[in-house]
Order: sequence, then structure tokens, then C-alpha cells
Amino acid sequence: MKFISLAIAALATATAYAADSSSVATKATADLKGKAGISAQVEFSQTAKGVSVKLTATGLKSGVLYPYHIHVSPVPADGNCTATGGHLDPAKIKVADKPYKCDAKDPAKTCELGDLASRHGNLTADASGKAAVSYVDSVLAFSGADTILEHSVVIHGADNARLACGNIVVAKAGDVSSAAEESEASSAYLASGAMHQSASKEHNSVANDVEKSTGGASSVAAISGIVALVAAAFAI
Ligand SMILES: *[C@@H]1O[C@H](CO)[C@@H](O)[C@H](O)[C@H]1NC(C)=O
Ligand SMILES: *[C@@H]1O[C@H](CO)[C@@H](O)[C@H](O)[C@H]1NC(C)=O
Repeated sequence: MKFISLAIAALATATAYAADSSSVATKATADLKGKAGISAQVEFSQTAKGVSVKLTATGLKSGVLYPYHIHVSPVPADGNCTATGGHLDPAKIKVADKPYKCDAKDPAKTCELGDLASRHGNLTADASGKAAVSYVDSVLAFSGADTILEHSVVIHGADNARLACGNIVVAKAGDVSSAAEESEASSAYLASGAMHQSASKEHNSVANDVEKSTGGASSVAAISGIVALVAAAFAI
């Protein structure tokens, strides 16, 4: 019993650290441009609770609701937003002959994956025409069927015209603000802290050793701590 729960805790911790250092992209950006003088920047980054989305837009009119979505196809070189196709909806939530009603409390079952406006609200601008939103979305992903990569973001007008669009591309180092990195780091810290705590209920001294070695946030130290934990578990 002790062995199994310690092994599970070790595996979970190892997986958390492995996700940090793997080559799977965890940050992406989109640079939206349009004819109407509207432009926007979007930053996506993976966090423990989902994908953090930070969008800032300029050139909007205050008092107007601007829906925005992730669309299926990339924006072609000529910038034609119509060519981005429909909303990203890999689970085929929106089908003909069925009313579509996105419930933000049940996004996986009721919302098109790309329907950011229905989950998080339309964009609205301040008096200077700027909008800024920031949230963590629980259904977007950086890999698999629900990946946001290779798709695009489109801002619509209230009449559904496509006002600005841009491709979602993997971010180069330094493209994504440190605020996103800080929140990611702190949630990773909280998650590993919780795991250490549950391990310590089973075996105090071993858990303390791991706590000490991971204190410096070095993944090499973390992995040697995990090896020690697993070795100790086998010795029981
Ligand atoms: C923009 O793309 C749409 C859909 O592919 C196409 O029908 C339309 O002709 C394009 N507009 C221009 C100006 O190229
Ligand atoms: C978002 O804006 C669109 C277009 O104006 C509107 O139809 C829709 O009801 C708005 N959604 C919300 C949640 O305000």
C-alpha cells in the first residue's frame, strides 16, 4: 500500500517535471491585423489549469461588442480573413438542425473549441478604443485533437464581418510576457507542493528529503529526489 501510493506520487511528480522540459510547445502568439484599423496581439501559454489567454486590441469603437474566435484555417499571405473558414470545432459541437448554446460551465460538451467569446465574453473597448482580456481556458490545448496550433484568431464586428485576423504560431523565446510565466511557475509550484504533502503523510522522512532537494527548483535535483523516493519505497 505504502509502496503503491509513494510510487504514484513519484510518477506524478516526475510527469509534472517532464512536461516542463519536453519539446512540446507551451507558448504561442497571434498577431492580428485588419483593414478596419483594428489590430490585436494574443498570447497563449500552458498553465497547470489550462491555457492562459491574454489579448490586447486597439482601434476598436467603445460601446460595440466584438465577438472573437479561433478559426480552422490559417490566414493566407494576402491577409484575407474570410479564407480562415469556420470556427475551430473538432468535437463537432455545432451541427445543423440543433440549436447551438455554449454554456461556459460545460465547455467541453456545449461550446465549439474556438468559441472564445461565448466562454469568456465579447471584446469591449474603453474610450481610447483599447480592449484587454486575460483568463485561463480549461479546454484549449497545445497538442492532440484540441490543439490551437496551426489555426487562427479572428475578431468580428457586431454584424459578423471579419475585422482582423492572425495566425497562431509557436512563440519564440521572449515573445510571451513574464507574467504568464510567473503564474505558470507558481501553479506548478503549488501542484508539486500538494504532491509532496500527500507523499509526506505516507512517509515523512523521505518526503522531507524530496522537499529539500526540490527546494531550489532544479529539475536535476527533483529527479534525483524522485529516484531516492522510489528507491526508499522499494526498500520498505
Ligand atoms: C477571400 O477568401 C474567400 C474564401 O476563400 C474568397 O471567396 C474571396 O474571394 C477572397 N477575397 C479576396 C479579395 O481574395
Ligand atoms: C456578443 O456579441 C454578439 C454580436 O453583437 C451578440 O450577438 C452576442 O449576444 C454577444 N454575446 C454576449 C455574451 O454578450
